[in-house]
Amino acid sequence: MLYPPEVQRRFYEASRKWLENAEVPPLEQARTRIEELRELIRYHEWRYYVLNDPVISDYEYDQLYKTLEAWEETYPELITPDSPTQRVSSDLTPSFQTVRHRVPMLSLDNSYNAEDLLEFDKQVRKLADLPEGEPIAYVVEPKFDGGSIALLYENDRLERAATRGNGLEGEEITPNIKTIRSVPLQAPFSRHGIATAELRGEALIRKDVFENLNRERAEKGLPPFANPRNAATGGLRTKDPQDTAARKTDAFVYQLSYAADAEGNDLLPTLESHHKAILLLGELGFKVPHEATKRCRDIHEAIEFCTLWEGKREAYPYEIDGMVLKVDSLELQRRCGATSHHPRWAMAFKFKAKQATTRLLEVQFHVGKTGAVTPVAKLEPVQLAGVTVSSVSLHNEDFILSKDIRIGDHVLVERAGDVIPYIVKPLTDLRDGSEKPIEFPRSCPVCHTPLVRLDGEAAWRCTNYNCEAQVLQRLIFHVSKDAMDIEGLGKANIEKFYQLGWVRSLADIYRLDYDRIAQLEGFGEKSAANLRAAIEKAKKNPVHRLLHSLSIHHLGKRASRLLAAHIDHVLDLKDWTEEDFTRIKDIGPIVAQNVRAFFQNPENIRMLQEMEALGVNMRPTEDDRPPEPAEEGPLSGKTILFTGTLQHMTRKEAQERAAAAGARNVSAVSGNLDILVVGEKAGSKLRKAQALGTVQILSEEEFLKLLGEDGSA
Ligand code: IVH
Repeated sequence: MLYPPEVQRRFYEASRKWLENAEVPPLEQARTRIEELRELIRYHEWRYYVLNDPVISDYEYDQLYKTLEAWEETYPELITPDSPTQRVSSDLTPSFQTVRHRVPMLSLDNSYNAEDLLEFDKQVRKLADLPEGEPIAYVVEPKFDGGSIALLYENDRLERAATRGNGLEGEEITPNIKTIRSVPLQAPFSRHGIATAELRGEALIRKDVFENLNRERAEKGLPPFANPRNAATGGLRTKDPQDTAARKTDAFVYQLSYAADAEGNDLLPTLESHHKAILLLGELGFKVPHEATKRCRDIHEAIEFCTLWEGKREAYPYEIDGMVLKVDSLELQRRCGATSHHPRWAMAFKFKAKQATTRLLEVQFHVGKTGAVTPVAKLEPVQLAGVTVSSVSLHNEDFILSKDIRIGDHVLVERAGDVIPYIVKPLTDLRDGSEKPIEFPRSCPVCHTPLVRLDGEAAWRCTNYNCEAQVLQRLIFHVSKDAMDIEGLGKANIEKFYQLGWVRSLADIYRLDYDRIAQLEGFGEKSAANLRAAIEKAKKNPVHRLLHSLSIHHLGKRASRLLAAHIDHVLDLKDWTEEDFTRIKDIGPIVAQNVRAFFQNPENIRMLQEMEALGVNMRPTEDDRPPEPAEEGPLSGKTILFTGTLQHMTRKEAQERAAAAGARNVSAVSGNLDILVVGEKAGSKLRKAQALGTVQILSEEEFLKLLGEDGSA
């Protein structure tokens, strides 16, 4: 036990005392007492992050932590690198250096069934020169699906942490790893005579924490992480340790790969077994997967434990994709040796992918906002990794043809991690001849206009701009967050208003009858008034939003901005030639053709005129017109974005100054952004820039300094 019961009782009492009196003492007293406080905090972190069983409230922990912070602020000379406050370093970007692992980080050999494991057992017996029938003990533990890490401790302190890299050399990511609370910054290896230790483990994010992370990201308008593994490994290699911390990354250790005393003598053999080594690591304060680990007497018990865990996999709080069998005796391990790829004493038992078979009942064809027709397979409902799946996208005609999927087929469906389910293949051996090829319609399933397939596109399209399906999808897109962003008018309400015949064209949205809406079930005066306010607000939107909201094929956010910056009025575009469009840098012929075709259609012009008469803004606003960058200046060639509330100037002034210094103002955080200037209450843009790790983030003052004292440079 890292902390024997009597020590825990003492720590608990001591914590109570600290909570009562936290005054900063004179230096001499602080010198001895500050380490006591750190020990208490480490203890509570271990209870919370490793054992998942805190003995004080979060609030009380925060109080202790804040006390330590206050003391260290008063006496900065007493700060030590392993102080709990030093986890989230405020240092500038760590640069990743390549470091050589003390012991190469090998991979694992894979097996998929009991026979493979019995064969493995035979091999081990042969390599270790054991007689037939002599049981070999194995430790079976989870195979974590995260990012592997190597931790190097010297004289009880975490000295260095690295990624696996190519197995021989990894990237040094110490500042990031230090933010992971389940990784002790110090551990009493010296109690066991160990001066240097290297540990292997896996950084990962708990499944429920991951769900919350993605929910928060969605609320902030950030793209979701694909799965817990990507989120965790991305967090390891971010240039901002705060980001690793924000992802609430966790870490398990599963291997003590090196242990030596001060003279460099190998101490591993003295531990005798992997199981003992793992218990030791748990005692030293590391997070070890105790409940999912078992020392099995022989291969049969090991196989049983693997099967048991395959069934419990979903219920385990972390993503695991199998179990790992390791020969327990370190002496036997030594006799087995290793290939250049994997140790011969270990074997991964991989769980079956999350697949299931079901019947494909029928195929429906959905028409999107730009007329693309997507085939959607309706399936006999099937359970897949905990969810019921009854329909999957078949993407396009080529996908169907290449897989030869037919109606009535038994199909293999997969849902790997948290990705959208998809059809792996039809089970052609099960066909009885009644299956029918999927006939791709040649005309729109809704308005019957012949479909066309343009060069270089996978989709067949309905070209009728007034097709009912397209109209409805366009209405839904028009009000969405990416377009006019009308709060309270989502898909469900648009569908309802459409069915009632209240909205047919985009203009209808701006002449809704709020009295009638108030009468609708589920509405009422208040929500009708809120909706009105949201629509009134949207009428004043910058025109780049309006352009994007028209669902013109290929006209995305960026091109909409470019166009908005080059017009005085939206309807100017009806007189533009294709060359007028392509003269704008970054507007290509395809966007040009599509936008021109839209503005050549008199019905569209009429619709825009109606919208304008109803009060929808058609003239570029300040937001549409970033000032032109000067030819030369301290910021020439750079892109810049301002976010949050600025104190010394308006947003517009700031943009003008930046442009005068040669910078190009942009509107969104992307890989192309060089500088982000943050004012007060900066939100999602700041977080996104931090996540990218490539953006230079400046305060308003730093920005002004960059331009020279008076800001004019
Ligand atoms: S032991 C020296 N144990 O699987 C033996 N690896 O496919 C090598 N992994 O790179 C590693 N859980 O990232 C070991 N309980 C576990 C593991 C584990 C996950 C990962 C590890 C390794 C990969 C090999």
